[in-house]
Amino acid sequence: RDVLVGSAATAACLFLAEPGLAESLANAPARSGLGTAYPRRDGPLKVRGAARFAAEHRFPGMVYGALVFSTVARGTIRGIETEAARAAPGVVLVMTYENAPRLAPPEPFYASPTGMAGSAIPVVQDASVYWNGQPVAVILATTQEEADHAARLVRVDYDETEAVTRFDAAAARASVAVYAGRELQYRDGDAEAALAEAEVSVDLDFSTPQQTHNQIEPHAVTVAWQGETLRMHDCTQGVDLSAITIAKVFGLDPSQVHLTAEFVGGGFGGKTLWQYHILAAAAARLADRPVRMTLTREGVYRICGGRAPTRQRVALGARPDGRLTALIHTGTTMKIAQNAMTEPFMEAAEHLYRTDSIHLEIRAGVRDMLANTFMRAPGAAVGTFPLEVALDSLAERLAMDPVALRIRNEPEVDPTTGRAFSQRALVDALQEGAQRFGWQSRSGERLGRREGEWLVGTGMAAAYYPYKRFPGGAGRITLGRDGRALVELAAHDMGMGTSTATAAVAADLLGLAYEDVEIRYGDNRLPGSMIAAGSQQMAAIGAALTAVRDALVVQLAALVPEGAALRGRPLQALTIRDGALVLAGDPAARMPLTDLLARAGRRAISAEAVAPPPSEAREWSMHSTGAVFAEARVNAVTGELRVSRITGVYDCGRILNPTLAASQFRSGIVMALGMALMENTLFDERSGRIANPSLAAYYVPAHLDVPEIDVAWTGIPDPEAPSGARGIGEISMTGLAAAVANAVYDATGKRIHDLPITLDKLL
Ligand code: MOS
Repeated sequence: RDVLVGSAATAACLFLAEPGLAESLANAPARSGLGTAYPRRDGPLKVRGAARFAAEHRFPGMVYGALVFSTVARGTIRGIETEAARAAPGVVLVMTYENAPRLAPPEPFYASPTGMAGSAIPVVQDASVYWNGQPVAVILATTQEEADHAARLVRVDYDETEAVTRFDAAAARASVAVYAGRELQYRDGDAEAALAEAEVSVDLDFSTPQQTHNQIEPHAVTVAWQGETLRMHDCTQGVDLSAITIAKVFGLDPSQVHLTAEFVGGGFGGKTLWQYHILAAAAARLADRPVRMTLTREGVYRICGGRAPTRQRVALGARPDGRLTALIHTGTTMKIAQNAMTEPFMEAAEHLYRTDSIHLEIRAGVRDMLANTFMRAPGAAVGTFPLEVALDSLAERLAMDPVALRIRNEPEVDPTTGRAFSQRALVDALQEGAQRFGWQSRSGERLGRREGEWLVGTGMAAAYYPYKRFPGGAGRITLGRDGRALVELAAHDMGMGTSTATAAVAADLLGLAYEDVEIRYGDNRLPGSMIAAGSQQMAAIGAALTAVRDALVVQLAALVPEGAALRGRPLQALTIRDGALVLAGDPAARMPLTDLLARAGRRAISAEAVAPPPSEAREWSMHSTGAVFAEARVNAVTGELRVSRITGVYDCGRILNPTLAASQFRSGIVMALGMALMENTLFDERSGRIANPSLAAYYVPAHLDVPEIDVAWTGIPDPEAPSGARGIGEISMTGLAAAVANAVYDATGKRIHDLPITLDKLL
């Protein structure tokens, strides 16, 4: 049903998945362009097994890598015994800090505009150990099994030094966090005094655990030194930045790195540049052999970071009519000394609600652990949990409906920046969601009911994610005399449908048929420096392709022959529409692009351009919002918790492709369901070691855990965003955990403030 919201769907796969749709789709008018449900271009390749991922490429003479991980959190290596490993069958190389090439430390995010590494920790350059799980030796062997076997034969002795591994110890020395160059602190008025004076208030503490990325494709890279060129088949979310970062590590010019990642089996913020990339390339150089390095699932947990734990306080003061007089959202999270990534969990509170006074502050403690990093909806995923649970508690105290409380506090302008919203329809999303879900409005009382052993309740929350557009957007379009266009850009498709959406955006800009647009991406040698992160890749692409279109107009104008109506017109008056160069306001003055090229004797023209700086996000308050509703069923005997119904309605600007959007929204909801119910990286505070580094002991939702998910959107184009689209990749990761917690309260009367909501907390 939801795929029909916004547009008619035409995807063949939908006919198979939902046979009931076939008839209505067959009768739907044929449409094209933005908003059309084109099926994913990578779909058939993946279904046939023809899409090759990083670990599926091979080079002649390739050997396989395995890693040895440290078992102490901090210290120095006293000795490494490698003889048995060297003598093991098939072993080609054992590399430790003693024989590794000398390398520069990698540049992490924010250390420079091109940093793509998880941390600046040097990679096997000396005897130092920085975290429990750090790679300390690399084995290369002729088969993966031989490499894995030899890795187990390496013996390492350590001199341990005192490590900071306890949250409390690190929190005691925490300081105000800096994220993307900004101090995570904001005050307006005296919120504590306003809270003390408030007629109605809540003051609550929450915690969220460490979480690990579990992409379907574990991290992998296949590398070869080809002369002076480092060739990498990677699974990164930033081909260009990964290439630049690794080039600097090896003292190369970025042009000497050729890095491709055509298919990425899930990223979510975790597919960046990690130590295994550098070790694979270093070992390949030392052994003079191409290397495939595939991390085991345990390897991902040891060396590829995830979301840091948080402890948060949300306090709200209100007048009896529900208007907020105080909003306090503060807390502490963990990071490492060698990166600049702090969970910015106050961002939702900055922009969601009007309030008379506000205090937001995030402190970061430094802990000896694997580098933490971005994980789907960094900040907002864990920040909306306490905020939206606290609003539910406040609604109860106010004897007010939770939906009405949010509408009561809808701001007219951005509550902290004072800027006008470029487009915001949170109230519409709340109302639409309530209606679709069948929300029973309430005034402070619980409406939960009992069905046999099961306690059933409903809850809701707002969702939030900022609009972003990173610099670096660029692209090239080659227009052929045959009326086809080739679009090339260093972008990424991690399974969300970038190439499909990009083709629609390009077709729309040029007035070409969608089928006539070919997309090439996932290669650092293509134009641009985009990253598939921050829900902003499509904005970066849209801005880039608009600039390329304008560059094409300039070239096309020069081809207009003598005597044509378009000849000598000012460039600003010219544009491309329906596959023709046209003059604004004069339908007669048009020349089909194919004619223009043919008459000029050109087979094709090509233009490349860079997107303008992202000034829109500084001039406007640009944010996506949403409303999410959940039904929870808790077994009164066993504490088993099942989420049985979910509705999410999102306000993200124009939806470029309803099939892709529904899939993105649903996948974020499924991931958020994991956050709500089960995900928990068990960090042993005594040793600093992750105790559950596998899918056997770290739980993510399986099919049976996931109910029907109803998703919809407002679809109102954002006039300030390229193509009107603000980005959809992360917002559905937010709000849901709070909606589930609120539903659990409605069902059981128990307020769970510590994620995940496991059954032991419900008994
Ligand atoms: Mo996303 S956590 O910005 O890849």
